[in-house]
Amino acid sequence: MTATKGLEGIVATTSSISSIVDGVLTYRGYNIDDLAEHASFEEVAYLLWFGKLPNADELKSLRKSLSDYAPIPSDLVAQIKLYPKNMSTMAALRSAISALGLYDEQADEMTAEANENKAVKLQAQLPTIVAAIARIREGKEPVAPKEGASIAENFLYMLTGEEPSDTAVKALDQALVLHADHELNASTFAARVTVATLSDIYSGVTSAIGALKGPLHGGANEAVMKMLNEIGTPDRLEAAIQEKLNNREKIMGFGHRVYKNGDPRAKHLQKMSKELGDMNNDTRLYDMSVKIEELVTGQKGLKPNVDFYSASVYTQLGIEHELFTPIFAISRVSGWTAHILEQLADNRIIRPRAEYTGPTEQKYISVELR
Ligand code: ACO
Repeated sequence: MTATKGLEGIVATTSSISSIVDGVLTYRGYNIDDLAEHASFEEVAYLLWFGKLPNADELKSLRKSLSDYAPIPSDLVAQIKLYPKNMSTMAALRSAISALGLYDEQADEMTAEANENKAVKLQAQLPTIVAAIARIREGKEPVAPKEGASIAENFLYMLTGEEPSDTAVKALDQALVLHADHELNASTFAARVTVATLSDIYSGVTSAIGALKGPLHGGANEAVMKMLNEIGTPDRLEAAIQEKLNNREKIMGFGHRVYKNGDPRAKHLQKMSKELGDMNNDTRLYDMSVKIEELVTGQKGLKPNVDFYSASVYTQLGIEHELFTPIFAISRVSGWTAHILEQLADNRIIRPRAEYTGPTEQKYISVELR
């Protein structure tokens, strides 16, 4: 038995949800470029869960369910208010989603129908929880979800209590489409491993959130913004990046385990970042990002991943950086739950082996003699 570090190149499951072949990402066979251009996030969530694009009635019915399920239990809001005020948003989200399962009487029902229903509920309630966490951290009361609004519109509305602009809704909706699923990424794998023990969907999503939180995965978008803030002004950029490269530090938002010639999602976020900058008459963040890309790609050959330009996009939408990774979760919960449904439809416990590298032939010595 020989281990492969980081399971690189290991094919651990079959899946018909999303694929990456020769650098092209598809959801259920639809190219991500096409979906990013034309589809709403709700259509994409339906596609991931049910394997086909919804017709008009199916989409209407999904939108209604998402809207009906969006409010969260008041006891959960009370609980979030007890979390420390300086809470990490991802740690708070992980705790709140775990707690959410306690309020769902269906939590341990394992029929496909019950799990599909819980997938929709989780998709509906996760944005409400993120917005509540954001407001409670600032000492404000949560804003109740707006009936009939899309996930993107509702989330932006719940953050501020004000109607978001069409541009902001469109940009966030497209970002949600781009982040919705990504084959066997670390958080999706964590979700599948958890439910493959026949544990419940809330446990699966809680595991996934824990995995997404790390800066090598979803946490990278927050780390990109921290880096941009630390650099501060364009005149300091070249020296700051050069120092990181000389010190062999990782530049957040660059590199990918699977994409070696560029992440197909990054160009959409780059375009969005430029458009928002042009619209706001302030392209400083976009210009700095482009300069960083030039330096990192030029010197290391590493290309930006989905997290790199999403940092400047979200900042230009007026969103604080502690919410970037939770926004990733708002989108990816569609993919996590689709994978959970797929795992449970044809389940076998996931239990690989480890290559043992520790000592052997040890003789037990009683504690007095040690
Ligand atoms: N900055 C500088 N060097 C890098 C970077 C980076 N961002 N990414 C990889 N490298 C270097 C590594 O140091 C390594 O160099 P070495 O061979 O001289 O030691 C080489 O490129 C290969 O990198 P690995 O870390 O082995 O690549 P791996 O496939 O294990 O990791 C990962 C992929 C985690 C994405 C890595 O590129 C990274 O840490 N990037 C920064 C964090 C990030 O942006 N994560 C988000 C990924 S996308 C997502 O999860 C949504």
